[in-house]
Amino acid sequence: EKSGYEHFMLKEIHEQPKSLKDVLSGRINELTGDVELPEIKLTQEQINDIRRIVIVACGTSYHAGLAGKYVLEMLTDVPVSVEIGSEFRYSSSRTDHHTLIIALSQSGETADTAASVKDAVKKGAYVIAVTNTVGSTIARESQSTIYMRCGPEIGVAATKTFTSQLAVMYLLSIYLGRRRNTLNAYNAMKLLSDLKNLPRDAQAVLDQSEAIASYAKIFSRANLFLFVGRHLNYPVALEGALKLKEISYIFSEGFAAGELKHGPLALLTTGVPVIAITTKSPTYEKMISNIKEIKARDASVIAIASEGDEAISQLVDVVIRVPDVGEIVSPILSSIVLQLFAYHVAVCTGCPIDKPRNLAKSVTVE
Ligand code: F6R
Repeated sequence: EKSGYEHFMLKEIHEQPKSLKDVLSGRINELTGDVELPEIKLTQEQINDIRRIVIVACGTSYHAGLAGKYVLEMLTDVPVSVEIGSEFRYSSSRTDHHTLIIALSQSGETADTAASVKDAVKKGAYVIAVTNTVGSTIARESQSTIYMRCGPEIGVAATKTFTSQLAVMYLLSIYLGRRRNTLNAYNAMKLLSDLKNLPRDAQAVLDQSEAIASYAKIFSRANLFLFVGRHLNYPVALEGALKLKEISYIFSEGFAAGELKHGPLALLTTGVPVIAITTKSPTYEKMISNIKEIKARDASVIAIASEGDEAISQLVDVVIRVPDVGEIVSPILSSIVLQLFAYHVAVCTGCPIDKPRNLAKSVTVE
């Protein structure tokens, strides 16, 4: 079943050109610059009435939600918050029929996310589920469900479902932006064409597997990894750290790069590896300043950078390239790099990659 791959995780990482194609299939209308999601049953009036959006999710899905927040807020005029499933119940913010809830869950069975959905529906909110599992609890409890169409994900570490969650969040943001008149067809078309190229661009990242494996080997004896990014690349950093810690058991943490000097810089000493997501974006220059700060402490920097950015090579120890695509879409490509990186570090540390200790594929207890 592993189709010649040593682990399900590696197989699933390599399936992403296909899973990304499938999640977008039939959902993009390039002629009108629009997204087609007939599974969303909201009327135009209900869409106009949305006053806030709350994304609820756990773990990797929560990270997809954080990225989704940035994009939803860029493309619509609705304020968005992202809540961890197990924390949402303690929030005293008001949930009513002006609230749109987006529940992200690969399995559709995560107990804390399901409980939040139930509660929100009771309070009159409209819930859209984004899941990979047809007929799952969260799909059944929600008014609308968008399926990720990834096929089964066996590895405990979420990989292809994360990138598809991001893709769905982008589709949903365009869908709502077009219908609330905050996104015009021209700008939507640009985004949609970037999305359409994702399967090809994901393959370009996968083609660098060997190089990424060799960098992973060099750093695999570290006992601490830090990941930093800004804006949309901040959730990418969080997810890169989660992936690495869960399968390699090496302590890793993601930070918003601007937070470094508020504490984490104290962790930096000679050779501590810091992975900096530094793809082209409006925050690029600020990331470069952060990289200089990190290098000044003699730490090692592994940068994920856009193709064509030659200048960065002088500043860092290792550069891993991703295709030069728009800032909204690039997190999907950077995430694939970090999945491969985590995988290959875990190969070096000899961990049971598909079944990390103490973890279950779906967490059905609260
Ligand atoms: C990490 C991972 C978990 C899940 C989390 C939520 O690789 O897989 O953090 O993302 O347990 O699961 P779902 O998305 O099924 O609700």
